[in-house]
Amino acid sequence: MTSQQPADERVLVIVPTYNERENLPLVLDRLRVAVPDADVLVVDDGSPDGTGEIADQRAAADDRISVMHRTEKNGLGAAYIAGFGWGLDRGYDILVEMDADGSHPPEHLPRLLSASAHADLVIGSRYVPGGKIMNWPVSRHLISRGGNLYVRAALGLGVKDVTAGYRAYRSQVLRTLDLPTVSSRGYCFQVEMTMRTVDAGFAVAEVPITFTEREIGESKMSGDIVQEAYVNVTKWGIGRRWNQLRHLGSRSGTRNPESVRSS
Ligand code: GDD
Ligand code: MN
Repeated sequence: MTSQQPADERVLVIVPTYNERENLPLVLDRLRVAVPDADVLVVDDGSPDGTGEIADQRAAADDRISVMHRTEKNGLGAAYIAGFGWGLDRGYDILVEMDADGSHPPEHLPRLLSASAHADLVIGSRYVPGGKIMNWPVSRHLISRGGNLYVRAALGLGVKDVTAGYRAYRSQVLRTLDLPTVSSRGYCFQVEMTMRTVDAGFAVAEVPITFTEREIGESKMSGDIVQEAYVNVTKWGIGRRWNQLRHLGSRSGTRNPESVRSS
């Protein structure tokens, strides 16, 4: 599969890592074959298993690979925000999010990049026709489906896979959203970024991907991550309803003689 991406657009694939020493080399090899021209930034949060050193070795052997070392495990969202800043400073046109554990097939990236010719954010989606999830336990399906339904009810963003972590952003989106004020640290980061992108009026497209659960290492999903998402989405949902009510109130207020007098 070849990308329809204009040849002069520069692509940066950001890969956050925490204890992925066995997975990272595999995903970097697959990426190099699938999208030979893309640059890669590994954002490692000081993995105790030595992932950062493995990333350094790969960077020493390949000019297209760079590594950002952070000292603390600070969550997926914080790692991506740091990586976005790095990529924007260097003038990349498209910034891609990709997990290091092989769940986001690098072979599907050309499809995301093609779609980004006509969209500001392309989501590699598990919940559009053709999208799939392989090898997830029932519990994880329930969390993901339940989370997506809850987000739809609370925020109504019109996106089928709002928690998806395989994405391609046009740099203009990331320059427009006020990234330092993004509050979510864990996977809720994906929801917050989608909400901000939709609210800013950018075009979002979803293309089907197959998400395959990792075979090596462990997911960093935790109760805290789910709780952060639940609390934040509820807060945002209430805020949006409140704004809608205020908006309705102020519209009906124009027919009110008081407000006509004061205008
Ligand atoms: N630097 C850094 N810091 N990397 C992290 C951290 C962190 O605190 N936490 C996780 N990562 C890295 C992992 O090493 C991996 O490369 C990637 O982020 C995804 O982490 P996983 O722990 O494998 O996530 P998952 O499979 O449970 O969740 C995936 O699916 C979710 C939706 O179902 C991710 O793609 C999520 O973003 C997505 O919301
Ligand atoms: Mn994973």
